[in-house]
Parts: sequence; structure tokens; C-alpha cells
Amino acid sequence: MNDTRALAAQCLADVALGGASLRERLAPAQAQLADPRDRAFLTALCNEGARWWLRFDSALDRLLDKPLRQREPALHALLLLGLVQLEILQLPPHAAVAATVEATRTLERGGFAKLANAILRRWLREREALIRQLDSNVVSRSAHPRWLVDMLQHDWPDQADSILAANNTPAPPMLRVNARRATREDVLAALTAGGTEAHAHPFLTDAITLAENTDITRLPGFADGHFSVQDGVAQIAADLLDLHDGQRVLDACAAPGGKACHALERANIELLALEREPARAAAIDANLRRLGLQCTVQVGDAGEPAAWRDGKAFDRILLDAPCSATGVIRRHPDIKLHRRSADVATLAHVQQRLLGALWPLLAPGGRLVYATCSLLRAENVAVVEAFLAAHPDARVETFELPVGQRPVSGWQILPGEGGLDGMFYAVLTKSS
Ligand SMILES: C[S@@+](CC[C@H](N)C(=O)[O-])C[C@H]1O[C@@H](n2cnc3c(N)ncnc32)[C@H](O)[C@@H]1O
Repeated sequence: MNDTRALAAQCLADVALGGASLRERLAPAQAQLADPRDRAFLTALCNEGARWWLRFDSALDRLLDKPLRQREPALHALLLLGLVQLEILQLPPHAAVAATVEATRTLERGGFAKLANAILRRWLREREALIRQLDSNVVSRSAHPRWLVDMLQHDWPDQADSILAANNTPAPPMLRVNARRATREDVLAALTAGGTEAHAHPFLTDAITLAENTDITRLPGFADGHFSVQDGVAQIAADLLDLHDGQRVLDACAAPGGKACHALERANIELLALEREPARAAAIDANLRRLGLQCTVQVGDAGEPAAWRDGKAFDRILLDAPCSATGVIRRHPDIKLHRRSADVATLAHVQQRLLGALWPLLAPGGRLVYATCSLLRAENVAVVEAFLAAHPDARVETFELPVGQRPVSGWQILPGEGGLDGMFYAVLTKSS
């Protein structure tokens, strides 16, 4: 299919109404488009469609006599994308309306062409009143589910509004330079020479921020492993691990290997990268190959060390735990659509279990970095404090970062702070 809007509508319907992952659904859709500009437009439509779904889904409830989302999911998504083109991408109205009407035919739903035209024109006519109505409700104003707004307001009463705004702002891509293959200056020079605007991050030594989205795999140096895509906030883990040559290190939840590879780029360590999902473990191998790095990759459950440990203690453990991912919504807006409030307590239980299971593997005097890309205290401070209460040989280290908030135990970076994604870190040391 070469109609980008129709393709985006099918993709978005699968994500928002069918429960598919945006990242997984977008890749095969992009492969259907030859022109990089079409691929960029598809990405923008799907990302902004997912980001603003809860706002414009509510708008369609006001504009349509009978809801379409169950009977005609792709058509529903196409109309919603029409509103996204008008309001978020700010395309010229006549182009957005005409192309949306045309896309009904590509979807073999030409019988709805008139309806599509009428709905988008009505939006344009009644826009101000409709926007007032949408803005009167926190869900359709913020395009976040109610439960998440409530949790953010509870945990971050003074910052909740800025968190919601940051989640609704697309984030520029960030890179991590592979210090074993290139210097940051080399990578910046090659990017600039190739016409890509890029800047060194002010306080993260390996990080580069790009001015705009682009196909990173086609940038000079990518195939040679000079850099990887990784938000700067994830690059803080390598600093907190305090790595030195010769250490035995465990990355207990390693796929796709971003933090594991960074650790290997930093020091000559003996690293075990553990991952429960075999398909995701394969992604670690692929990254190691491209970056010219080596470590042991093992499929296993971090909560069941008896099945994979070799008896020797680790000097460093990274537990980058499965979490609600509420800190990375700006890059993965479908999290707003897929996550449920009940997930938070379930995840907190898993996080507790993994922390408790891994602690005995840490050598006396060793250091465990607990990390989540969650903003919720239940998965962060509460997990660390419950762990500390049950483990008298554990101590939480204090540390300072140039951005973020300091809860009692650990450090929380909120999305947008320092231009970074949201992340929580706690550094735990074991008494010798
Ligand atoms: C937050 S991601 C890790 C990201 C990774 N550290 C990086 O920087 O690229 C969490 C990973 O943990 C894996 N995982 C979840 N539960 C696990 C368990 N019990 N044991 C091992 N891996 C697990 C997930 O499949 C997922 O790949």
C-alpha cells in the first residue's frame, strides 16, 4: 500500500484498538514505503496518533452519531489521524481533509468518504467549542488515562503538569558513542559532514543529541559500531556502576543490551548479560556484534539464580527491572494506551522479588544499581525502602546528578529534565 495515511490508520488501529506494540507494528509498515519522507510521515502519524489518541478519540465521540471504533477500526483511526494532522502536525486543512477522504478509498471504505469529509469539516467549523469541551476533562485535555494522571498527581503533586506536558512532547533522538571505536568528536564531525545537526550533551560524556528524527541506521558510522541509539538518562547507569577493569558484572535484565554494551565500552569487565526472553536475548547478541564487544549472554530468569549462577559472586549487579515504563512515554506513547493501573502493584511485586533474589549474588563491598524507567514511587522508592528494611547488610548510597529530584532513597529524573527521559536509580552497597 503506498497511501501513507491509510497505512498509518491500519497501524494505529492495531496499536490503539488491537493492543499491538507501536514499535513492533511500525517496523513492517515502514518497510512497505520506499521514500524516506513517506516513512518519516508514517512515523509521525503513528506516534502522534498514539500520543493524542485519548484526546481525539473523545473528539470523535462528539462528532460521530454512531461510534466506529468497533465496527470500522481502521476508519476510526483514519478520522482520528485527520484531526491529528489538523491540530498536532498543523498541515494545511484542505490537504489534510482531501487526503483523509482519499485514504478511505485506499482502505476500500469509499462509502465513508462523505462521512470523513463531513466530520473533518465539522471539526474545523466548531473547533473552538469542541476544544473547550475536550479541555474541560483531564483525560481528553492531557491525553493520559485517568489512573495515570491520579498516580502522577499523587506522587508528584508539584510536577504532574510538567510531566504530562513532557510526555506529550516528542523527544529528539540521542546517541551513545562507543568509546572503543570512536571519540565523540569523531562522531560529531562525521554527522556534521553528512548534514546531520548534532550536539554533545552538556554533562553526559558519551551522549550526543540530534536536532531531529532521522533513520539512525543510515547515519555514517552506525554500521561500523561507532554509536548506538540510547537516551542519555540510560547512560547514567554506567557511571553509577563505577566500573573497573577485571570486575565480574551481572546485568540481570539485559535485553536489548543498551546498558550492558555501554558497560563493556567503558571497562574490561567479565559481564554476564541475563535475559528471560530468548528473542530479546538475540537482540543483545546482534548489538554486541555490531559494536565489536564480547560478553556471555544467557537466557534465564533473574528471580531463579540457582538455574544459571556459577557460584562466584559479582562485584557489580545492574537490575534494570521490568517496570511500568511511565518515564519513557514521550518516546513510546502507546504506553498510555496499553498500561493498566493494576500493572503497577504486580510490577512492584516482581521488582521486590528480583532484588531479593539477586542480592545474595553480590560480593561483600559490591554495588548493585537498581533502575527503572518508571516515575511511580511504588516501583522506585517503595521497592528500595522495603528492601532496605529486610536487608541489614544493604546501604543506599547518596549521589548527586545535575538534573532530577531526590526522593529519600535514590534519584528520580522526570521526563524532559535535562532533555532526558524519566528514570529512577538507586545505588545499593553491601557491607564487607
Ligand atoms: C527495562 S528492560 C532492560 C533494558 C536493558 N537493560 C537495556 O538497557 O537495554 C527489562 C528487560 O528485562 C527482561 N526481564 C523481565 N523479567 C525478567 C526476569 N525475571 N529475568 C530476566 N530478565 C527479565 C525483559 O524481557 C526486558 O528485556
